[in-house]
Amino acid sequence: MLTTYAQFAIGVVDLAAAILFLYGLQRMSSPVTAPSGIKVAGIGMAVAVVASFLYIFSVDDAAKPFLVMNIALALIALAIGGGIAWVAGKRVAMTAMPQMVAIYNGLGGGAAGAIAAVELYGSKTHGLTQLGVTLLGALIGAVSLSGSLIAWGKLDGILNHPLRFKGQRWVNALIVLATLVIGGGILFLASGGAIAQVGVAGMITTFFVLALILGIALTLPIGGADMPVVISVYNAFTGLAVGLEGFVLQNPALMIAGMVVGAAGMLLTLLMAQAMNRSIANVLFTNFGDAPAQKQGAIEGELKPTQAGDAGIAMRYAAKVIIIPGYGLAVAQGQQKLYEFVKLLQAGGVDVKFAIHPVAGRMPGQMDVLLAEAGVPYDMIFQLEDINADFATTDIALVIGANDVVNPAARSDKTSPIFGMPILNADKAKQVFVVKRGEGKGYAGIVNTLFYGDNCNMVYGDAQAVLIKMIEAVRGLGLPAAA
Ligand code: TAP
Repeated sequence: MLTTYAQFAIGVVDLAAAILFLYGLQRMSSPVTAPSGIKVAGIGMAVAVVASFLYIFSVDDAAKPFLVMNIALALIALAIGGGIAWVAGKRVAMTAMPQMVAIYNGLGGGAAGAIAAVELYGSKTHGLTQLGVTLLGALIGAVSLSGSLIAWGKLDGILNHPLRFKGQRWVNALIVLATLVIGGGILFLASGGAIAQVGVAGMITTFFVLALILGIALTLPIGGADMPVVISVYNAFTGLAVGLEGFVLQNPALMIAGMVVGAAGMLLTLLMAQAMNRSIANVLFTNFGDAPAQKQGAIEGELKPTQAGDAGIAMRYAAKVIIIPGYGLAVAQGQQKLYEFVKLLQAGGVDVKFAIHPVAGRMPGQMDVLLAEAGVPYDMIFQLEDINADFATTDIALVIGANDVVNPAARSDKTSPIFGMPILNADKAKQVFVVKRGEGKGYAGIVNTLFYGDNCNMVYGDAQAVLIKMIEAVRGLGLPAAA
């Protein structure tokens, strides 16, 4: 009797977790509600973990001692994993977030693969459909694990160069084929009964090893700069693998969480590719960003350096300023100083807005998070489509640590790798100031014609150091705040 009640209770708790995931995700659709959305989804995860401990009440007494040992092991694993994640989460720098996402994503894929391994080696899976789904989840989860770890290595600079050789695609195709043949073999041999009876443990091991090699082989040739998109693809894979294993275990929380992650990862991949005006195949199978310096037509004009203080003072006397933050701002960790400078301008009556490009930085939403961290109110932050028309009536555009997202070549140069990518129209402002350390290129590795325009001046230096000088210069004016 207790068993039936326990099973019902587990179902209810699982469903509650699934609802919390969905509600949390819905709240993540706006930066205002996103922080609470993350908390709600986190509570959902805690509820789902509690539900898995309730299984002890749903088994008969003979199996209980075994489960008690399992629970003890799970608690130890939770304490170790949770402890590491807590410390790492507190310490991680904003620029290292993509690496962290890569690792956690890989571990999610690994967890799905581990569930599949328990099912397969323990011959718990019966029926061809269930076995097929388990194998598919195992394949996708293992590819996601090893692929994400390679992506992490590339983002962290441990694996610096893409590994490419002649005939690589054929080798990869061969690994795919071998994995599918072994998977088909397991299905075939197991069609007569539970797989332990036909002794296919060796084949299962080979299947996992091949799937892990496949993840490595698919990721190694891709350039480090494309890793954020690759991680997003693996994110979709992990979600799918978790969802499939949720189906095998008949666990609604796992199924819903997996499918939500899978769909979100796929959508994010599509949006990122679209914002860069590239297809997913182009990201996965070309060497964008790693190509040797690309030939560009002769660039007219010259770079015109100016002092940070002069640029700061010019903005203090402007009526309308739009700020375009980019990857370099995150590298310099200049967000706090930037907002301090903006508040000074606002105190002087300057109308200041932030313009965010969808792929500014190195991961989706990085600039929004950076500005939110500094306390910039959301109503000052505008997305590309909402602000692009404003540049024509703007006195000064301040491009700080950004490059590709304001490159007019995307509009006019058909030979440019970023041709067709929507850009922020900073060049249309009356005056442009660009803050960067030197003549370093952006992610796409190309020269930016904006920097050579008649209306553009370069302010060389680390973004944070430049902002400190701008603040000093404006304060030095000793002007009273606007009424
Ligand atoms: P980038 O085009 O990469 O340019 C960043 C600029 O920041 C560089 O030119 C660099 O010039 C400067 N910089 C670096 N460190 C700095 C520092 N400490 N202080 C001041 N400046 C510094 O950045 P973006 O405009 O944000 O564009 C993002 C690019 O990444 C796009 O091409 C996009 O397609 C790509 N991408 C984005 C994503 C996502 S989801 N956001 C994913 C994959 C790819 P110096 O070296 O001269 O300082």
